[in-house]
Amino acid sequence: DTDMFTYDPGFTSTASCESGLTYIDGDKGILLHRGYPIDQLAEKSSFMEVAYLLLRGELPNKTELENFETTITRHTMVHEQISTFYRGFRRDAHPMAIMCGVVGALSSFYHDSTDINDPKQRMIASHRLIAKMPTLAAMAYKYSTGQPFVYPRNDLSYTGNFLRMTFSVPAEEYVIDPVIEDAMDKIFILHADHEQNASTSTVRLAGSSGANPFACIAAGIACLWGPAHGGANEAALNMLREIGTVDRIPEYIARAKNKDDPFRLMGFGHRVYKNYDPRATVMQKTANDVLNKLGLNDPVLDVAKELEHIALNDPYFIEKKLYPNVDFYSGVILSAIGFPTEMFTVLFALARTVGWVAQWNEMISDPAQRIGRPRQLYTGPTQRDYVSVDKR
Ligand code: SDX
Repeated sequence: DTDMFTYDPGFTSTASCESGLTYIDGDKGILLHRGYPIDQLAEKSSFMEVAYLLLRGELPNKTELENFETTITRHTMVHEQISTFYRGFRRDAHPMAIMCGVVGALSSFYHDSTDINDPKQRMIASHRLIAKMPTLAAMAYKYSTGQPFVYPRNDLSYTGNFLRMTFSVPAEEYVIDPVIEDAMDKIFILHADHEQNASTSTVRLAGSSGANPFACIAAGIACLWGPAHGGANEAALNMLREIGTVDRIPEYIARAKNKDDPFRLMGFGHRVYKNYDPRATVMQKTANDVLNKLGLNDPVLDVAKELEHIALNDPYFIEKKLYPNVDFYSGVILSAIGFPTEMFTVLFALARTVGWVAQWNEMISDPAQRIGRPRQLYTGPTQRDYVSVDKR
């Protein structure tokens, strides 16, 4: 049985697990992937390198990286039948609803050929999921716009391929801007894994029953969609746009502090970080860089910075230790790249698939692993006898 972990004052959990992938110190704002600080990985690494690191435990050498990228690239196509699943959705379906459906549907194509007790087949399933998520995500975007699906190409980088599948149209080839490709890759790195967050815990719990990895990742996508979790990036940009100008910030700060108002500052606060989310620091810098390099001036970024400044100097936020999290600035960049807000959480899921499959592999490969079975504190009635309806 897992020991009782005291996670933070007043919050203890028996649902914790042992994992060597990601370390978070919420008080100090530290995030490490296999020991490497997130800011170093974001600045110096690539999403494919980080995927290899999370899956295998070490940064790859040149040959290992080339072989890994080739393996992933050669799994980016999806079975042609998958495209028919999209046609069953309304055109205005939320892309996360589509992703829940089509990723779960992958089980019907690969379930029979995935023996999760065979490490080799587990890795093949992991490669398939990492490789196909960009294709499925781009198809979700294309379906919502009425544009034709664009097939992956093997001569492009993982992230370049995704951008082209998303934004290319038959009438006009999408030219991959290195500034955008680099920013997108950085955003994927920042979302790759984050210890035992709600969606990763969902994937682990689903996987602990022996369910196939495609169904487990579909469960993770469903959990991530919630506005308290991955859905916050879409909600944060919508909130910043609704605020619109810096003079309206105090009204929203007041609402966020009002216990009778369910409104919360989206992109602010965290279950673990009681200090600055190190990913938010990189994200804000990337937002500045991308807008400057693209010659864009999005007033939403000014609103975001001023809101952060006011909140971080407000006694309520200081006392509650509320800081911007990974979702606060990401929408500014994604919007500048050209994504609609409905696609933001899909991009989060695309990147987090790396963490989900790495955590799933880590769990399944542990011979001591058993089915997850959280317990409860019972608060219902004590035992009593049945009374027939005519006597009630
Ligand atoms: C992600 O777990 C992970 O690692 C998740 C994630 C990942 O990479 O997987 O990091 C990704 O999900 C980031 C979080 C994205 N969600 C949002 O930005 C939504 C807005 N934030 C909140 O809903 C909230 O901060 C949560 C859900 C993230 C955390 O909620 P908690 O557990 O209630 O936070 P807390 O215990 O730290 O709250 C302390 C107090 C509470 O008030 P009291 O009960 O003490 O009176 O601060 C309040 C909260 O009500 N509070 C907020 C607030 N967040 C917390 N008040 C106003 N605005 C906010 N954003």
